[in-house]
Amino acid sequence: MRLSVARGGTTLFAPVTARSLILGIETSCDETAAAVVADGHVVLSNVVHSQIELHARWRGVVPEVASRSHTERIVPIVAQALEQANVRPEDLAGVAVTHRPGMVGCLLVGLSAAKALCWRYDLPLIGVDHVQAHVHTGFLADPQMPLPALALVASGGHTALWLVKAPTVTERLGTTRDDAAGEALDKGAALLGLPYPGGPSIQNAAKGGDPRAFDLPRTMLGADSLDFSFSGLKTALLYTLRPQQGPTDAPPPTGDRLRDLACSYQEAVVDVLVAKLARAAERCAPKSLCIGGGVAKNLRLRERLQQHPILSRLHLVLPDLSLCADNGAMIASLGFELLQQGHRSPLDLDAIATPRSGGKAPGRPKAERP
Ligand code: KG4
Ligand code: ZN
Repeated sequence: MRLSVARGGTTLFAPVTARSLILGIETSCDETAAAVVADGHVVLSNVVHSQIELHARWRGVVPEVASRSHTERIVPIVAQALEQANVRPEDLAGVAVTHRPGMVGCLLVGLSAAKALCWRYDLPLIGVDHVQAHVHTGFLADPQMPLPALALVASGGHTALWLVKAPTVTERLGTTRDDAAGEALDKGAALLGLPYPGGPSIQNAAKGGDPRAFDLPRTMLGADSLDFSFSGLKTALLYTLRPQQGPTDAPPPTGDRLRDLACSYQEAVVDVLVAKLARAAERCAPKSLCIGGGVAKNLRLRERLQQHPILSRLHLVLPDLSLCADNGAMIASLGFELLQQGHRSPLDLDAIATPRSGGKAPGRPKAERP
């Protein structure tokens, strides 16, 4: 079989090897990542360079700093992914790359690298939507995942529920109206004086705490909604820490109080995610449930899904933690599927800030002044 790729009006051809090897490149936010995946689900390499340390002092991603770092890292990271997989560029069946949504200056770095490789080696370019790649992680973790599946994507920039009808056919059931779940954890951690990123900090600080010690709100947006809202929770935490009549410069909590606050806050976020999943499961009768995005690494969320009377009866796909946060393997996996279906992107493919389905602009919370 030969695959065609349109390039400036001409059609070129690239052979597909017996084992369909896809290079996936991801630079939409603060991870420079590349991976080689065979046949859509065999991960041969998955290299991720995180910029967390670069951005920690601002408690959010600084776009210009992020894109500069991607520029420095992209060539060695791609080379490392190919080397670890023991694959030459000419062995590839295609290069998949995140081209939306994300910070445009960041997306452009991965996109330029992918285009250069495709041009040099006559390979098909496959532009991938980052959020859809998180949804697709379910297939990467379990290619036999029974359909339809319910998918939760929860990260620093996105929180949405999807109904997965086929590997590339998804319907958005609900999304956040304000903060993403990861953003709520990042901002909550800042209020508690815990380091960035907030999700893992809160998870650690919550160990041994009482999840009911503080009465924090669970915003459900009415009886039918599958949308999310986390901004009220963050405000409730702020007023728990600094009552309106109290001093504005109260020191951050410590000891048992910190542990219980972190635990109660994490529980409130998890409660909402689980309740909305249960609501969606009742409505759509899925056979499976999969989760993706950085918040999907949360151990309390995983535990609650495994214990839930309705959700635990579904075919649960809880991917390896390395596949939840941003990575190139999920991009390669969805790229494989799209290539199989005949999708190709032109070499003048644009970087686009918004997700395929519209909605909230992407990215982690805006960086704060140091
Ligand atoms: O998917 P991701 O790596 O990047 C994007 O935002 O696209 O997700 C990062 C988010 C951050 O908000 C971080 O606090 C959260 O995922 N996170 C977690 C955990 N690890 C990372 N949230 C809860 N529990 C965790 N263990
Ligand atoms: Zn992501």
